[in-house]
Order: sequence, then structure tokens, then C-alpha cells
Amino acid sequence: MLDNFQRKINYLRVSVTDRCNFRCVYCMPPEGVKFTPHQEILSLEEISRVVDAASDIGITKVRITGGEPLVRKNILDLFRYISANPCIDDISLTTNGVLFADMAEDLKKSGLNRVNFSLDSLNPETFREVTRVGNFPDVWRGINKALELNLHPVKLNVVAVRGVNDQEFGDFARLSRELPLHIRFIELMPIGECNPWAVGNFIKAEEILQRLQEEFGPLETKIKITGSGPAQYYRLPGAKGTIGVITAMSNHFCHSCNRLRLTANGQLRPCLYGKQEFDLKTALRSGAGRQELADLIAKAIRYKPSQHHMEEGWTDRRVMSQIGG
Ligand code: 5AD
Ligand code: SF4
Repeated sequence: MLDNFQRKINYLRVSVTDRCNFRCVYCMPPEGVKFTPHQEILSLEEISRVVDAASDIGITKVRITGGEPLVRKNILDLFRYISANPCIDDISLTTNGVLFADMAEDLKKSGLNRVNFSLDSLNPETFREVTRVGNFPDVWRGINKALELNLHPVKLNVVAVRGVNDQEFGDFARLSRELPLHIRFIELMPIGECNPWAVGNFIKAEEILQRLQEEFGPLETKIKITGSGPAQYYRLPGAKGTIGVITAMSNHFCHSCNRLRLTANGQLRPCLYGKQEFDLKTALRSGAGRQELADLIAKAIRYKPSQHHMEEGWTDRRVMSQIGG
């Protein structure tokens, strides 16, 4: 379905939980955030009903996110259900990767097509500092498993944080030479708890690219990757993979936005940065049928704003793990 700005909305991101087994410094305080009580989180069956209704009005791609989606019990059932829907041709996952290796084969059998890993450092100590609890070798094993199972394109999300991983941009780029990995540097967003901290540690995508070009010379541009969304991709000469930047802050990619987000507690958000939400949970729990749900989703699409205004500040009460990134 087209929205009011002629954008084709065909992509639904589903946060299946706000819980996470990591405590990344830019995402959560050390003690974690207050998790939503279980009964307020959509059941897998309710999520399936939303996906079915969304597929009736043109959603063809679904991404499962969190929190950390792989901590959700019986998550494979959801993959199986969604992959049986003939209108959905692409199911992807965003994960911190720590549980991925052991679940990878089952995920693939259940319909997973491709996977994005959040990985902010290639150095096990820095990785532990960023995630507070994460074990790098587990995640690395997961990434290799994804490559082995051909879950391409395999992407890495690297949130760029000054003084934390800004000495590693070159290492990540070299990794893209050796392995068919698509590495995306993401501008740190001043979201939720971490707002004042994030502002001081922000690195503009432009600076990242400039530093990479100083080290590696001119980069090949205009590369197209499946589901490339808001990222711009570049390639080192002869590399198997690519490097890219997601200019969440410094550059609007809203004009080509194709997505909707379903939060773990059943709210449909037309824009990540907008506070407006449509309450699908209440509809689901008061007996709304498929058509009624589809009508509500269509309404959310009509309310999708032309662009976000995050540079004015993040005034939301939610943090990223509750929306799903
Ligand atoms: N700024 C930028 N990216 C973030 N993510 C989580 N919080 C932030 C933030 N404040 C990223 C995660 C994950 C993706 C879904 O969002 O690292 O890769
Ligand atoms: Fe978990 Fe992702 Fe938040 Fe890290 S950024 S704590 S992996 S939800």
C-alpha cells in the first residue's frame, strides 16, 4: 500500500520482546530497564494475526527484532507461521548473536532468510565493555554459522561510539575484504536513558567515511544489497563484502522509508522517531478480525509522517529495546 507521500509500505519490523540478555551501554542502564509484564506482550499467536492482516495490504517483508528476539520462548513457531504465508517473501532477524549459533539450523528450517548481527567491536574486551555481559566468541561463532548456512546477505550493525570503537573502523573494513559480510556503521542515536551520554560520543557518518578513505583510498560506491533500506554501501577494492553507513542523525532517509514497526506490547508505530502509535493489542484482545486489523494497519500507514524530527531531541518514554530499532 502507498502512504500519503507515495512511499510503498511493504516492510514490517516486529519486536517480539523488550527483554535482552545484553546491557549495551547506549541502550540500557546496567540494571536493565523495567521489562513489560508478560501479559502485556503480544503472544506469538497475536503477532501472527497482525502479520497476516498486514500481508493483506501489501506487507511482503518481515523482520523479527527485540530486545533480543532469540530469548523469546518458542520463537521458531513464529518463523514457521510467517514463512507459510505466501505473501511474505522475506523473513529476516536482527540479533545480538549470542544464542544464534545453536539455533541457526532450526531458524533456517523454520523460514529465516537472512540475518543482521549487532556487533560493535571485534575486540573481546571492548565488546564486553559495550555489552557489559556479552561473550565475543559466542557471537563470532554465530556469524560464521550464518555464513556457512548461506543466510545472505549477512550484515553487521556497528554503532559508532567515540572513544569506544572508533579505532576499529579500519579493522571492520578489512573484515569485509576477507568475508562476504556487509558492515554498517550506525550513527549513535540519543535515545532514552543514554541521551546526554550519546550526544558527547556521537560520530557523524561523514567522519567515518572520511577516515576509511584516508586509510584505504577511494571506495567503490552505489552498491545495492538486498534490503539495503537506509544504508549507503561502499566497497574496498576486491572485497567480498561491503561497508556502509546509516546516517540516522545527519541525513534524512525518510523519503524512501518503507516500514512500519510493531512494538512488543502491540503498538504499531508508523515512524521510529514519532511518538504516535496505533493500539493493535486492544483491537486483538477485543475480538477484531483480520479485516478490522488490516483497516487499522492501513490507518497507521496513512498517518506515516513525511519525515522525522529527531534533531529536535528524543522526547519519548521508550528506549530502543522496546521499539525494536
Ligand atoms: N543508537 C544507534 N543504534 C542503536 N541500536 C540500539 N540502540 C541504539 C542507539 N541509541 C542498534 C543496535 C542494533 C539495532 C537494532 O539498533 O545496535 O544493531
Ligand atoms: Fe540488547 Fe540490542 Fe539493547 Fe544491546 S542494543 S542491550 S543487544 S537490545
